[in-house]
Amino acid sequence: MSRPTPRHLIAIAAGGLWIVVAAGALVAGLAYYRLPIVDRPYSELHDLFAPAGLIGHAYGILGTLMMLIGVAMYSARKRWHRLEHTGRLRTWLHVHIFLCTLGPVLVLLHTAFRFGGLISIAFWSMTAVVISGVFGRYVYVRLPKGGAGGVVPPVVLRRRRVELEARLTSAVPVTTLTIDRLFGPGVADENPGLMLSLVRAIRFDFERRRLPGRLRSELADLGLAQETATRLIPDLLSYRDERHQMLTFRPFQRLFGYWHVFHLPLATVMLLIVVLHVAVAVAFGYIWIF
Ligand code: HEM
Ligand code: HEM
Repeated sequence: MSRPTPRHLIAIAAGGLWIVVAAGALVAGLAYYRLPIVDRPYSELHDLFAPAGLIGHAYGILGTLMMLIGVAMYSARKRWHRLEHTGRLRTWLHVHIFLCTLGPVLVLLHTAFRFGGLISIAFWSMTAVVISGVFGRYVYVRLPKGGAGGVVPPVVLRRRRVELEARLTSAVPVTTLTIDRLFGPGVADENPGLMLSLVRAIRFDFERRRLPGRLRSELADLGLAQETATRLIPDLLSYRDERHQMLTFRPFQRLFGYWHVFHLPLATVMLLIVVLHVAVAVAFGYIWIF
């Protein structure tokens, strides 16, 4: 097995941190959350884990701050050209996802699993934004990115694909015909529908897991030595990814456009109601430890 890269190690550490914080916060208040709603005010845990309790309130503030920071920094990096040299957009999106999934978990614990009134609209908007985010990310990672992480236009994509094909066929004993035999002909439909493209993408992902084994045996059938085949497989896989991106570029770009119309307004609705919720809480004297 190959050694993990620093990028992998950071991802593992971030995943570990996410689980420790989410599970730790849940376990801390579990005894309270399991109590029937009517019994909660009589519990000694009420002052800690109720939405206005010392810890429950802190969960609400912290979770909301995480979401605000997660959105603000990603938006700033995406729009503010001065920040372009501060890492790839993809890395910032990972931070957005980290903060905007952990934040909602803390907000869920802040509610102590009891939702009512106007603020429940914010809660369900938040839930819908998170679910839509997972879908959006699935589409987003399939859009080909340029050096700074922005989406590249098809003309650049086509050039990139030709270059990759030339590199592949000149560096190794594989021809375009062989590639077509391995992955099927790479001809794009004129205008594949959104559903068809989505189904194809899901199938493409499922097939990927079994692919190295299949490629190895196909390359052996073509008479390639095992060593050459092993060297070739990573290049072939990235070629397949790029080719797939090319085939699904237009429909996925359209899908991503529609998705934006969903993710962003829901986040705004949530934010507006939360501002009202916080204003009401402060007006009623709930100012946490201050
Ligand atoms: C997305 C963010 C938030 C959501 C979805 C949310 C949701 C809720 C919900 C569902 C309740 C319980 C209502 C009930 O018992 O029926 C609640 C209570 C409360 N929230 Fe939040 N909250 C959020 C952020 C905040 C923030 C940032 C603060 C403080 C600055 C805050 C302060 C409070 C307080 C003080 C209560 C208790 C009110 C009472 O007992 O009357 N919340 N919140
Ligand atoms: C409550 C949680 C979340 C909120 C409030 C939120 C909010 C936002 C906002 C406002 C944007 C637009 C940024 C911009 O274009 O300036 C955005 C973009 C995005 N978010 Fe979220 N998001 C949340 C959770 C998530 C989650 C959980 C995921 C994925 C698992 C996700 C994936 C994305 C993606 C892929 C983009 C688009 C990137 C782009 O167009 O450049 N979001 N989010």
